[in-house]
This record gives sequence, C-alpha cells and structure tokens, in this order.
Amino acid sequence: MPGVRWTGTGRAELSPQLDNHQLSRLVDTNDEWIVTRTGIRTRRLVAAGQGLTDLAVQAAQQALDAAGFTPLDVELLILATSTPDDLFGSASLVQERLGAKRAVAFDLTAACSGFVFGAVTAAQFIRTGAYGTTLVIGADVLSRWVDWQDRRTCILFGDGAGAVVLNPGVTDHLLGFELQNDGSQNACLTLAYQGEDRPLIDELTIPAGTYQPIFMNGQEVYKFAVRRVPDVIEKALFRAGLTSEQVDHFVLHQANQRILDAVAEKLGVPPARMLSNLAHYGNTSAASIPLMLDEAVRDGRVQPGQTLVLAGFGAGLTLGALVCRWG
Ligand code: COA
Repeated sequence: MPGVRWTGTGRAELSPQLDNHQLSRLVDTNDEWIVTRTGIRTRRLVAAGQGLTDLAVQAAQQALDAAGFTPLDVELLILATSTPDDLFGSASLVQERLGAKRAVAFDLTAACSGFVFGAVTAAQFIRTGAYGTTLVIGADVLSRWVDWQDRRTCILFGDGAGAVVLNPGVTDHLLGFELQNDGSQNACLTLAYQGEDRPLIDELTIPAGTYQPIFMNGQEVYKFAVRRVPDVIEKALFRAGLTSEQVDHFVLHQANQRILDAVAEKLGVPPARMLSNLAHYGNTSAASIPLMLDEAVRDGRVQPGQTLVLAGFGAGLTLGALVCRWG
C-alpha cells in the first residue's frame, strides 16, 4: 500500500489590505480592542474582479512549482472551500484554468476544518493507489459573506488561498488523524440559506430566498475550540503513537491568538511551537492552515523529517487534526 508524502506548498498573493484602523471607520471598534481580543492587526481581501477560482489557481500553481510537478501530473484535486464562485462547485474551473487536464476535481465543504478534512480525504485515495499526485487547496473569500456592519464578526475574517501537494511514497507520512462533527452546535456559526414561502403556481408554494451573512455566537465558538481542539489533537497523536512533546510544530486554524494560546497551554506546549500568522491575515477559513504551512516551509522553520500537527475547527461545527512527518 503506498504511503502519503507532503511535497510542496503554495499560496495566492493578495494585495488589498484592511487594517484595524481602517475597520474602525466602518464600525464602532478600535485597534486595541481587536488586537487584545483576537491578535489580528490586518487582513487581506480579494481585489475587485478577483474570484475564489483565481486565488485557488495561483496557490495550486505555486505548490506544484515548489514540489517540482506540472499541472498535467495532477490526478486528484480537492478544493476545500465554503465560498465557491459557483454553488455547483468551483473545482472544475480550477482544474481547467490550472491546466490539470487529467485530474478529477471536486469541492469539499467543512468550513475552517476544510483543509484538514481535504488532506485526510486525499490521503485515502493515495493509500488505495487510486490516484497519484494530488493537490489539496484551501481557499475562502469570506469577505463576500461578512456583514460589514456587524462589529462582532467583521473584525475577524480575511480572504486567502493556500495549497499543498501530496504524493504516493514508500513510507507513510500521515501518521494519524481524527475528524469530528458536532451538529448540535450548528447554530453557533452559520452562513445559512433563508427562504420565504412564495407561490409558484396556485397549488404549490416553494421557499425562495438567498444566503444570509455570517452569524456567529463568538463566546460559544470560543469555548468549543478551547475545550475540543486539545482533545482532537490528543486523539490524533494517540493514533500516531506520539505525544505532544514529540511534535516540532503545531499548525492550527488561525482564528484567534487567544485560542492558540489556550490550546498550547492545555497541551503543555511552549508558545514558540504553536505557529501563528493571524496578525497579518485574520481568519481565512479553509486557507489558514496551508497559508501558515507555506510561510513556515518557505522561511525554513518547517524542515523535512519534522513532525507536525495540523488542526482545524469551525462551522458545522467541525473539527479535525492530523499528525504528519513533513516531506
Ligand atoms: N470592537 C469593540 N467592542 C466590541 C467589538 C468590537 N469589534 N465586538 C464586540 N464588542 C463589545 C461587545 O459589544 C461587548 O460589549 P458589552 O459588554 O457592552 O455588550 C464586549 O465588547 C464584549 O463582547 P464579547 O462578544 O463578550 O467579546 P469576547 O471577549 O467574547 O470576544 C470574540 C469576541 C469574537 C473576539 C471572541 O468571542 C472570539 O474570538 N470567539 C471565537 C470566534 C472564532 O474564532 N470564530 C471562528 C471560528 S472558525
């Protein structure tokens, strides 16, 4: 049975920035409040005319370059996103624009856990021998769905895309994983469709409407993350036969610095091993883990052979962790 290897990372470069000072011109907030409560200082947003597909293609191409593969090598492409350009899915268009003509491609929705769910899904196809070179892209444009008048949520989110290439290998570098859902808390974080019943013909009424902006019960989501993320990481580590002391870097979904600090404390991990870049990007949903990973790989913090934990959590509610050996 082939194993899974991690062979390259990439990202989309977004130019427009919105810092906390600019945000305070939009809603009643200030830099100090946002930095103290979240650690976020600025966030990147898509440019006018730019879509989710553009970001995903850029990140994917960069990851393939880093891994030394071409789009024609790709056999499987998984696009983890909650904000496709098209509700029917954006993966096919990414496949086309990238020139990954041989790849089967599909969207996967698991909100901010999407990248971890996507990587674990990809690994199953690689392990069975069904597909070889695989792209897992995490991309989201939450700025489309944020209520920019709601100061409780609009301060948190940014746009972004990151990608990782996985390949079959002799040894398996996916050492363990754990995925979980808690639908009982679904209402805590939603981007929900709301329709009103409208008559279609005399005897038939159907709901017609559209998606509503992001709604979040911040305190409940915070409690969920701090309580459940350490547990899901411990379970993934148990499957890998490792302890948190043996992990070189923790790459968690970048939602809030206080969540990262609290999880590190619960796991007994020194803050330096809990990677963080959310000050510059905010919460980019499915993109945040591959964005952090790409940064740490390119600046040399993450080295081949090191042990990493990747962990995501978010709407659904969903959460998941995987343990891998880099490279
Ligand atoms: N600027 C200034 N004041 C703000 C504000 C803002 N942007 N947003 C809220 N406030 C105010 C509130 O109105 C409230 O004032 P009040 O006490 O007079 O009513 C006060 O600050 C405290 O609000 P609260 O919602 O209790 O703050 P908090 O400490 O829970 O922090 C979050 C809010 C959103 C930062 C925090 O709950 C959080 O990070 N939750 C997790 C969210 C998350 O990570 N979501 C994504 C998961 S994928």
